Amino acid sequence: MQNIPHIPVLYREVIDTFQQVASGIIIDCTMGYGGHSSMILEANPHLKLIAIDQDQTAIDFSTQRLAKYGDRVSIRKGKFSSVIKDILNEVDIKEIKGVLADIGVSSLQLDQKDRGFSYDSDNLDMRMDKDAPLTAAQVVNEYSQKELEKILLEYGELRNYKKIASTIVANRPFYSAKELSDTLKPHMPHGKKIHPATLLMQAIRIEVNDELGELKSLLQSLEDAKFPHAKIAIISFHSLEDRIVKQTFSRWSKSCICPQEVMRCLCGNNNELGKIISRKPIIAKDDELKNNPRSRSAKMRVFEMDI
Ligand SMILES: C[S@@+](CC[C@H](N)C(=O)[O-])C[C@H]1O[C@@H](n2cnc3c(N)ncnc32)[C@H](O)[C@@H]1O
Repeated sequence: MQNIPHIPVLYREVIDTFQQVASGIIIDCTMGYGGHSSMILEANPHLKLIAIDQDQTAIDFSTQRLAKYGDRVSIRKGKFSSVIKDILNEVDIKEIKGVLADIGVSSLQLDQKDRGFSYDSDNLDMRMDKDAPLTAAQVVNEYSQKELEKILLEYGELRNYKKIASTIVANRPFYSAKELSDTLKPHMPHGKKIHPATLLMQAIRIEVNDELGELKSLLQSLEDAKFPHAKIAIISFHSLEDRIVKQTFSRWSKSCICPQEVMRCLCGNNNELGKIISRKPIIAKDDELKNNPRSRSAKMRVFEMDI
């Protein structure tokens, strides 16, 4: 067996979420190294799985790892925002019983220095799909100071975003993540548990891979699909992503979606798509936190569509 380069987060909770699903199809939008995918297939012998990833390394690895499940698995390469639309056009919507997305970067992507995701990488790339047009080097070296400020504040939640943006502009061009993080280290928050440049790298990565746009587009496609019965589980690692998921699930659970200020309901009062399964985000238990530090900031929310 290949070495598994990524420990899946909230793995027990993911299995529990789909445990009751006896047959049909689960879509894993972020297959990665096939951890969640293989656990779901093992736990539910009659389920089929369609798994998506935009990273060729993940596709190659998981094609081998999941081969033993034969025609129970179909693997698609691409951005989930676009592949999900193709799948929803091809497959009978009644067959889809679950959708999982474990948003963000994998441990292998972080550990492979040539991918540029780590603060000590020798390049500035950070693309999950190596054929995607925008690289971290373009963001760092070509974005205006105002554009940099916006992503540092919104995606990195960095308090001194103005100072960091002006330091980038004054010292560029940068050719590696290492050079960038060394230059900016004095202006970064120094926490105990994370490297000072972590939030900077996170902000650039979210921009390069349009991670918030991808999440919003996925949720919109699921909303438009209106599954007769499917569980939707989203794991996120960033407060902005979690807020998007929380607000979307809350809207999906409401029958009336009129703005608060309207005096009389104008929306038809029949917009409810199902119910929220997890009122509070599901987070890792102590034993998982101990074995997998990446699970520290993982939050899962589950919605059951039932139309
Ligand atoms: C956190 S890892 C998933 C790990 C996986 N759940 C496992 O157990 O091995 C996220 C994976 O999703 C992929 N990914 C992230 N955003 C994506 C998107 N918008 N479209 C397709 N794949 C995406 C990344 O390339 C990465 O391999």
